[in-house]
Amino acid sequence: MNNPIVIVGSYNQDLAWNCTNFPQPGETIFGSFATGPGGKGSNQAVAAARTGVGTTFVGAVGKDVFGEAVKVFYENEGLEYQLIEYDDIPTGNAGIFVSSSGENEIIVALGANLAFKSEDVREETLSRAEIVVCQNEIDLGTTCDVLRRARASGAVSVLNPAPMISDFRSDYLKDVDILIPNETEFAELIKALHSDTMAGFESSEIHDLPEDRLHELCQSTAVPTVILTLGSKGCFVSTQDGYKTIPGCSGIEVVDTTGAGDAFVGGFASGMVQFNKEIYKAASYANAVAALSVTKPGTAPSMPHKEKIDKFIN
Ligand code: RIB
Repeated sequence: MNNPIVIVGSYNQDLAWNCTNFPQPGETIFGSFATGPGGKGSNQAVAAARTGVGTTFVGAVGKDVFGEAVKVFYENEGLEYQLIEYDDIPTGNAGIFVSSSGENEIIVALGANLAFKSEDVREETLSRAEIVVCQNEIDLGTTCDVLRRARASGAVSVLNPAPMISDFRSDYLKDVDILIPNETEFAELIKALHSDTMAGFESSEIHDLPEDRLHELCQSTAVPTVILTLGSKGCFVSTQDGYKTIPGCSGIEVVDTTGAGDAFVGGFASGMVQFNKEIYKAASYANAVAALSVTKPGTAPSMPHKEKIDKFIN
């Protein structure tokens, strides 16, 4: 298949508990449970594919019940996938608590995701791609090399630095065309990149910054385009030519925000292909995909389909 979107990253089996309030240390509470496909890379691929744009997911699982189940899920979705399967390493999994206000707490055991290498990504898959997306839930060396190869083959390389790692260095960004952090990841990134002057920078300060200062900070990463996601407030887009805040969608009933960042990234990749790489249009489309995703529970299963997105936008 000549798929224009290639997403290289994690698959996790999500084990999610809904509760009224998060349990305190030492506390036992009652809740309800659901399990389903997750992992930031896979969620992003599902989000992109459901918009109707050809997408390939490349990742790794263990030869276990979770790894078998996800292949059935991808086949039912019609999502093209290339999975490395390990005999002796379990499929990644995530324990997720979701509170009644729709917030979440997540612990991930990465398992097979960490064993996966850049050589496992076929050259022909990258060479046909228009856009290649990675996150921070597989080995960092693998991510950096895949981004390097993607750019060398002429694709737009995108990094969603989620979750942010504490010892992040500027050279991890050298082959990134577009960086998509959320506010927490952006603050951590700025602290890591400017430890001498910005060591005390907190995500809570972002909303008080004038746009020109935020743009300056985005451009200080040396990545040509930075798209800072702002939750329900939309996103801030900083390019080498200028900047713009694209407001979030109003009138959304929030059920579960887990995976909303993944919906944004998958929606953005799709928008880039659909709108001929027009960044602002793609980011606006991504806002809509993310907004719809929070109206349903779960991660991959909450990603909206093309018909619903088109109706919402129109
Ligand atoms: O972004 C949400 C995802 O983070 C979940 O699906 C979970 O698996 C973790 O990777």
